[in-house]
Amino acid sequence: MTVNLPLEKPDEINDINAIRALTSDDMEAINQLIHSRLSSEVALINQMGHYIVNSGGKRLRPLLVLLSARALNYEGTQHVDLAAIIEFIHTATLLHDDVVDASELRRGKETANAVWGNEASVLVGDFLYSRAFQMMVEVGDMRVMEIMSTATNVIAEGEVLQLLNCGDASTTEARYMEVIHFKTAKLFEAACQLGAVISRSDVIIEKAMADYGMYIGTAFQLIDDVLDYSATSEEMGKNIGDDLAEGKPTLPLIYAMRHGSPAEAAVIRHAIENGGRDNIDAVIETIHSNGALTYTANAARIEAEKAADAISILPASPYRDAMYTLTEYSVNRSY
Ligand code: IPE
Ligand code: IPE
Ligand code: MG
Ligand code: MG
Repeated sequence: MTVNLPLEKPDEINDINAIRALTSDDMEAINQLIHSRLSSEVALINQMGHYIVNSGGKRLRPLLVLLSARALNYEGTQHVDLAAIIEFIHTATLLHDDVVDASELRRGKETANAVWGNEASVLVGDFLYSRAFQMMVEVGDMRVMEIMSTATNVIAEGEVLQLLNCGDASTTEARYMEVIHFKTAKLFEAACQLGAVISRSDVIIEKAMADYGMYIGTAFQLIDDVLDYSATSEEMGKNIGDDLAEGKPTLPLIYAMRHGSPAEAAVIRHAIENGGRDNIDAVIETIHSNGALTYTANAARIEAEKAADAISILPASPYRDAMYTLTEYSVNRSY
């Protein structure tokens, strides 16, 4: 059980802890709503839902909903509903994603599929998606519905596109970028755009928020794909090497194949086409030595800079500062 100590409001919002302190009241309300709307008369749904929600998770997408709303002086309560809805959608995608990726560790604990099996994970994921849609109807705003339903649909397309690329060593950087825009950045985009929609901002501000979300989400996934080869499982709370095991052609591998020696390219090609973890040491060695991880981290930095540029038109506020700080966090994070 965690004890929530009252957090002091800091003057400068220059790290993730300061952001957490700035947003603690809103996040508390969001977490309460998440817990109360998880409930079902079906015991297994409660059990699995609470298991994954209580395992932690950075709650980044809900944070973006509330920061974007607050940065635009939003005073109502819809940001709490939308933040919880977005986290439900995110959690549903994780339940499904861990089945597809055959992952065994998430948020430092065994994945739901490892504990309860693939069938249960898929079905409880469906419960979370549909609960999110029930909550959306309660919000009762057609624009919100349009943004959320499109985002959810695009995520599904991204996951299917990625499935098609698995084991395919000819996947290009452009095809990879399309996948991460769809499977990850789209939900970040929706989270930020919604803040503008509920604060009834004009189209220029709404576009700026959406762009910020798309760029920061892209940076976030690029770094996730770096960390899959460079972090430790303890730090990440996920097993390192899951991408390789599935033969996922992520940017570190795509770059290494294009820019490495013929021998290096052959190592990577073989690893993508055959999957598994047998070649992980050789692959890690290759992507370190030929600069593929640095290239990918740099690509993330460029996206993060574009995110920061996008919000320069917002009025100055601690919430905008927090959004700037998150652009740095998205590339400097180790988990
Ligand atoms: C994991 O997202 C899925 C990706 C898009 C890489 P997060 O890293 O935000 O996962 P949690 O919610 O903090 O566990
Ligand atoms: C992100 O891709 C998954 C979704 C957007 C659902 P990953 O497969 O890299 O995410 P992790 O590493 O399992 O969290
Ligand atoms: Mg995965
Ligand atoms: Mg990953």
